[in-house]
Amino acid sequence: MSHEFSLTSIPDLNSRYDIYGAVHKGLRKAGCDLLGRLGTADFHNAEETGFLIEDLRHYLMLAASHVGHEDDHIHEALAAKGLSTTTLDEQHDDHRTAFRELEELVVAWENAWPLHKPACGRKLYLAFAAYIADDFAHMHEEETVTGPLLWRNFTDHEMLGIEMRIIASLSPEKSMAFMRIMIPAINPAERAALLGAMKKDAPPEVFQAVIDFAVRPALSVGDFAQLAGALQLAA
Ligand SMILES: [Fe+2]
Repeated sequence: MSHEFSLTSIPDLNSRYDIYGAVHKGLRKAGCDLLGRLGTADFHNAEETGFLIEDLRHYLMLAASHVGHEDDHIHEALAAKGLSTTTLDEQHDDHRTAFRELEELVVAWENAWPLHKPACGRKLYLAFAAYIADDFAHMHEEETVTGPLLWRNFTDHEMLGIEMRIIASLSPEKSMAFMRIMIPAINPAERAALLGAMKKDAPPEVFQAVIDFAVRPALSVGDFAQLAGALQLAA
């Protein structure tokens, strides 16, 4: 897959409904965090690395799920207006191949004799780095090319409808898992807007669960206090 983009002609992304922003920030940050951990892991130590492998599989599950949401809701909406999604579909197929190959490398590390585990871990590190490099280029294209294409062809109200259909399709567990990667990756104003909307629209017990399980554990004490102030949460 090759990408050609100008780094100086990024459109003004704050002017319209941003369907990709928060989830892509979450995937980028979680991917970078994992790459850092894969780089420092002692792959010889199967017990310690087991937690990292679990987190890696969880990340790849969320990434695969995200690609599926874009296929089912964004690409379908584009196709319904006669707009081509061929390039994006091909890139998503490449992602699905990468998910299978990464799982094969994980299994190879799990099954390797102790002496061979570090070499298998090194392969996994390199493969994951190549995967996120590719994914970052793909997400860049979505946010700077597909985003403006959506704005030209859909109203903000229609875009909101697409996002609401994606959210409605998520199980509570998956919804929580996406919140866990998004919240620490977005800025204070974005956190306040995302959670402010949820506080207004979601049942109070659901909102409280998101605060307790996805927000508070993911933020520093200072960042949580700032958010709590913006949302006027009870102390
Ligand atoms: Fe995508």
